[in-house]
Amino acid sequence: MLVISDSAEMQRQALAWRAEGRRIAVVPTMGALHEGHRSLIRIARARAERVIVTLFVNPTQFGPGEDFDRYPRCFERDRAMCEADGVDAVFAPSVAAMYAPDHSTWVEETTLSRGLCGASRPGHFRGVATVVVKLFMLTQPHLAVFGEKDAQQLRVVRRVVRDLNLPVEIVAAPTVREADGLAMSSRNAYLTPNERRQAVALRRALDEAERRFAAGEREAAALREAIAAMIRRLAPAATPDYIEIVDDETLEPIDTVDRPALVAIAVRFPSARLIDNTVLRPAGGAR
Ligand code: PAJ
Repeated sequence: MLVISDSAEMQRQALAWRAEGRRIAVVPTMGALHEGHRSLIRIARARAERVIVTLFVNPTQFGPGEDFDRYPRCFERDRAMCEADGVDAVFAPSVAAMYAPDHSTWVEETTLSRGLCGASRPGHFRGVATVVVKLFMLTQPHLAVFGEKDAQQLRVVRRVVRDLNLPVEIVAAPTVREADGLAMSSRNAYLTPNERRQAVALRRALDEAERRFAAGEREAAALREAIAAMIRRLAPAATPDYIEIVDDETLEPIDTVDRPALVAIAVRFPSARLIDNTVLRPAGGAR
């Protein structure tokens, strides 16, 4: 397995693979790899001849006062996991290798990025879109795998790829969960034991929304209140950041679930902010 930290070297290697006719998949990550990331790597492995995993804690997607400095960094462990999973190259650049001191060019998606996490984390998706396009230019992928765990990010990336005509297929991977249902996340490591027990509330609340939807509930307000009640009950240490039901394509809030709807939640525990989501699909809906 190649371990590359230099941007020019990564691009040369990717272009060399392309010149040999190899199909390249990239899995962009911020490291601290867990089974969620590994499921993306497996999907990439099955669909391409060369798999590149990027490990880069991207400063431009963190706001002031967010967890950039304390974000977990465990390169040796990540490297070993990638090697065990048959990755061909790990790209782990320094911040200086990715951003010139006078970097002044941004990729900004201006519609899907506005609500949900974009509202609570201004500038976050500009940082994500910019680094993802840069990583695509450096790794020259035919396809890239992203997790449904970060539903808004996935939709923003698809929109950027469409709007900028990037020749990259975006593959979505289902959310991998702990045994109790908590979506795996590098940030789960921040949780205290008590918060970790309460964190199951996110998935339980989404289960409750799915149950009510299956029983015929279509009013978004009622579904949102059922979610909020479940979080109040199971996670008294948490404060909801948002509980939203939006059109799965436009991410605009909807009142009635008469088309595929993304149910997206974010809650703040004292030690970490967690997100989760599910999609509700009415039978015979328009899409
Ligand atoms: P990171 O949080 O490390 O996640 C990397 C990829 O793994 C993302 O596509 C994310 O959706 C996916 N992922 C995370 N947890 C998952 C889980 N439990 N199940 C399935 N997939 C999961 O997302 C980022 O990094 C960054 O924003 C990045 C795209 C790398 C840009 O910096």
